[in-house]
Amino acid sequence: MQDKNIISVFENGPIHIRGDLVLINSDGDVIQKTDELYLCRCGNSNNKPYCDGEHKKKNFLEAGKFIKPPASETDVISEGVLEIKVQPNGPLIFRGVALIRDCGDEEIYRKVGGLCRCGQSNNSPFCDGTHSKIEFVG
Ligand code: FES
Repeated sequence: MQDKNIISVFENGPIHIRGDLVLINSDGDVIQKTDELYLCRCGNSNNKPYCDGEHKKKNFLEAGKFIKPPASETDVISEGVLEIKVQPNGPLIFRGVALIRDCGDEEIYRKVGGLCRCGQSNNSPFCDGTHSKIEFVG
């Protein structure tokens, strides 16, 4: 079966997500239902949570490869709705099954997780709480 929900990390750029997607705010209100999103992970977009290309102007440099990824879940199929919640001043929290690919050749399946959108995580592309230390606003 072909994977439906795929999160891809771009080198020096955004997170690309395709699938059956629902983007919601922290109150649970739907921002957008779609099949494709480009979401900011550098923390500099002027149109958060979306990427607006600001990573190029700010010279965001991040390899886009997993540093310490959580273990892949083995009993899952990436189908169904993938919900992505935008946490104020924090990460993107996804729920639903997704295949997550780095820009190398690593990939894992996860049912839930937090993706960094402040650009400063030491465990990119996943949130490690650094957004609190740097007082990320977005
Ligand atoms: S959002 Fe970047 S470390 Fe949490």
